[in-house]
Amino acid sequence: MSVTAGTLAVRSFCITRSAKMVSRPRVVMAVGSNTISGASILKKLQKDCATPLPVLRHVADAMADDMRAGLAVEGGSELQMILSYVDALPTGNEKGLFYALDLGGTNFRVLRVQLGGKEERVISTEFEQVSIPPELMFGTSEELFDFIASVLAKFALKEGGKFHLQQGRTREIGFTFSFPVKQTSIDSGILIKWTKGFAVSGTAGKDVVACLNEAMKRQKLDMRVSALVNDTVGTLAGARYWDNDVMVAVILGTGTNACYVERVDAIPKFQDPSSTSGRTIVNTEWGAFSNGLPLTEFDREMDAESINPREQIFEKTISGMYLGEIVRRVLLRMAEAAHLFGHSVPEKLLMPFSLRTPDICAMQQDTSKDLEEVGSILYDVAGVNSSTNARNIVIDVCDTIAKRGGRLAGAGIVGILQKMEYDSKGLIFGKRTVVAMDGGLYEHYPQYRRYLQEAVTELLGPEISRNIVIEHSKDGSGIGAALLAATNSKYEHDF
Ligand code: BGC
Repeated sequence: MSVTAGTLAVRSFCITRSAKMVSRPRVVMAVGSNTISGASILKKLQKDCATPLPVLRHVADAMADDMRAGLAVEGGSELQMILSYVDALPTGNEKGLFYALDLGGTNFRVLRVQLGGKEERVISTEFEQVSIPPELMFGTSEELFDFIASVLAKFALKEGGKFHLQQGRTREIGFTFSFPVKQTSIDSGILIKWTKGFAVSGTAGKDVVACLNEAMKRQKLDMRVSALVNDTVGTLAGARYWDNDVMVAVILGTGTNACYVERVDAIPKFQDPSSTSGRTIVNTEWGAFSNGLPLTEFDREMDAESINPREQIFEKTISGMYLGEIVRRVLLRMAEAAHLFGHSVPEKLLMPFSLRTPDICAMQQDTSKDLEEVGSILYDVAGVNSSTNARNIVIDVCDTIAKRGGRLAGAGIVGILQKMEYDSKGLIFGKRTVVAMDGGLYEHYPQYRRYLQEAVTELLGPEISRNIVIEHSKDGSGIGAALLAATNSKYEHDF
């Protein structure tokens, strides 16, 4: 398998530091009373973030209830429960050359794959990844789609070697677009809203495939989108290509979301079921969930100052874009009220999103006695000299926020599995069922991953959890989208 990496080899899971948030006024002197200590702020934080079993149970049950309400009627719950129009998953027989585009967070990726059917499977794949210039996240729709089409055009020019298109065909694309889209068919869908810090004007309410087609036309690029998919759907399809037991896919990266295989007859709002298999994939958009979450004053303040207040609360509590920012807000309070870093408040700490989730993850990996790595990250990011005592408190804050996020994500997964099990009696818990996971947060944060798994096991008990396999499916969404382009190809195929 040949792989070409682009400018950024590793999928990062955090937004750039320039994310638009209303910044607080500069405070340089700490003004706290001496009666408040860092330890007491920590204690309250741990209490407010606690996720004992009853809280996890409530979240799992509420997730299942909200899923049902969202399937019953359009707008029936916070969860949009979006129909993906994917009712046939890859079988392994897919053949030919297909492209995939992946727009979902800080990075944009293009990929091509030559599929060789059951025998040869993936003959060759190449991809390139580029960071989305931050200004495009706040620019116009045209600018963003022109950028995407130009990267694709350059990439397509480099096609050669083992890749070849059957004569008389147009290159087909699986377009992974990882934002809430109301699909109108497998190859069209209207953007409901931007998430993850994107605020591009002129796309909401429009068909994103039409936007891409227009931009490709401007680039004189002759390609067609055969499948428009969410990244969760791409991940599920990509993982299913190798393993028939995959029933759920979850993304934990910059943002978060989950999709699963649903029975068409369990979707009352689906008026015109044309599915031949009787099953379809539903994109839950679980980032919007909020029922019964243990939230703190820091979460509320972050939400109020965000570009999408009162939206995406689950996402703001558990995903990579926000964990570092929540920690920063707690540390700022500790610096102001408890002089955690001496008598002045480090100016850098005042900057929203200056502390990123990879920073808090790196700090948690420090096992040295004096927490030297923690000290140097705090110095680089927040511009402070810290005592060992302060570093220990910082680690506890990171752990509290990562623990809450991981455990709540685990409860969300159990909610989906419970709903599926209830409807299909034994077909989920009574046999091996795989949950395919992807996203930088899940991939790179070992403590978060462990907390997630622990919550699933606590909720399901040891026996059932043996059947539930939570598995990393790295970058499956790219290949998954290409596979779905193959499955939905406009050309005749025998797979
Ligand atoms: C989007 C989802 C996406 C998820 C993970 C969320 O912000 O709303 O559509 O699947 O991020 O990328």
